Amino acid sequence: MATLVVVGAQWGDEGKGKVVHLLSEKADYIIRYQGGNNAGHTVVFNGQEFVLHLVPSGILEPGKKCIIGSGVVVDPQALVEEIRFLEGKGIKIEGRLFISDACHIILPYHRWMDQLRETQQGKRRIGTTRKGIGPAYADKVARVGIRMADFLSLRLFRELLERNLKEKAPLLRKVCKLSELRREILEKRKKQLPIIKDLVVDSAIMINRIVSQGRNVILESAQGTLLDVDYGSYPYVTSSNPVAGGACVGIGIGPTQIDRVLGVVKAYTTRVGEGPFPTELSNSIGKLLQEKGKEFGATTGRPRRCGWFDASIVRHAVRVNGLKSLVLTKLDVLDGIDPLKICVAYRYRGKLIREFPTGREIFKDCKPVYIELKGWKEKTKGIQKFNLLPQNAKRYLSKIESLVQAKVSIVSMGRSREETIVIDKDLIDFNF
Ligand code: GDP
Ligand code: IMO
Ligand code: MG
Repeated sequence: MATLVVVGAQWGDEGKGKVVHLLSEKADYIIRYQGGNNAGHTVVFNGQEFVLHLVPSGILEPGKKCIIGSGVVVDPQALVEEIRFLEGKGIKIEGRLFISDACHIILPYHRWMDQLRETQQGKRRIGTTRKGIGPAYADKVARVGIRMADFLSLRLFRELLERNLKEKAPLLRKVCKLSELRREILEKRKKQLPIIKDLVVDSAIMINRIVSQGRNVILESAQGTLLDVDYGSYPYVTSSNPVAGGACVGIGIGPTQIDRVLGVVKAYTTRVGEGPFPTELSNSIGKLLQEKGKEFGATTGRPRRCGWFDASIVRHAVRVNGLKSLVLTKLDVLDGIDPLKICVAYRYRGKLIREFPTGREIFKDCKPVYIELKGWKEKTKGIQKFNLLPQNAKRYLSKIESLVQAKVSIVSMGRSREETIVIDKDLIDFNF
């Protein structure tokens, strides 16, 4: 009986959706704690592919209950579309999905502002998903945001909307007609409300009750540690705290309630959007990783930049999340690639830097220092026992463990739940 945080330990898209779906078999509740519909979590089961953006990945496991925590920014339109999509696939939502009344909402003007800022920044753009995430979190912190509880009351919603439109008018007038925008928001709200209103709960009360009852709970992060607004590769980050510490704030529990933190990493590195990426490969190996790994964004369809495993950034993630265990995904994508490289440090202006640096000017000019390991020819997909993995694959995993100072507890070699080796059985049994 325990509370487990599942966090991305690179730049997102590590395979959190698959891992949460796998672990949700023995969980009671699955709760998202930050981010919004910038996330794209893919779950493949029964031969079908599902991409979830807002709803926790546990919804695909029959009978499990899911909560969208207060740290998530919710675009009501995106939520309604996702609910319709899931119901269309025969997945029951009623009585299984709950949304915190303290979630801040994303409105069309947040999307406009996201796009405007990206366009104006030109070469310095972040490469956001353009879903309005940054502007919605900015409103929250500036104390002008609109929360789910406010959205339910027409009088209050109108009042807050008016105030926001007025404040943002000088910017918004450049891209749209305010009267039309206001009408569109109010008309859409009328259609969204009947679908959303019964799902809204005081989640801090609900979640604390669940945790004190000793239920098995998964706290699902979106994005990854290097996209964290405080601990990531700032400013090329998202606007929330995917790190494990964000889970307490994002759902309203205390740190004493977290029992274990699990980091998800890919066997190599990928990144979508702009920003420094020391191990990026702009050669045929990068192309191969992209094609074999099907590295295209689950939310925007953009090709993901690919490169070698970077132990310095994962060691940073181990540190700031307090990780002891990792799930290593996509090992199968490395089958047949020989030799393999792992970045163990950076060279910056002639100096050796072992750890991920905070300074943006430094990280941008960091050149990777690699060690080389022998690859393997055998197919790893379908292997069910750790001992049956090729010797060199085991060496690769063990090298990563010693470089990042955390244990690989689960290895994934395919998209479906069955294509997984669970080394630490206590993890999936919530026995910790
Ligand atoms: P998330 O955002 O962390 O949930 O990850 P995404 O769903 O955006 O991207 C991960 C992609 O890798 C998805 O298409 C998964 O189906 C796929 N995937 C996950 N684990 C494995 C694996 O072990 N091997 C392969 N080949 N694909 C995987
Ligand atoms: P999941 O949960 C990968 C990236 C964007 C951009 C930066 C800021 O699927 O791992 P934003 O729209 O959040 O303001 O964009 O963050 N980004 C992600 N990259 N996986 C994600 O989510 C991401 N969500 C945002 O590409 O670089
Ligand atoms: Mg993703």
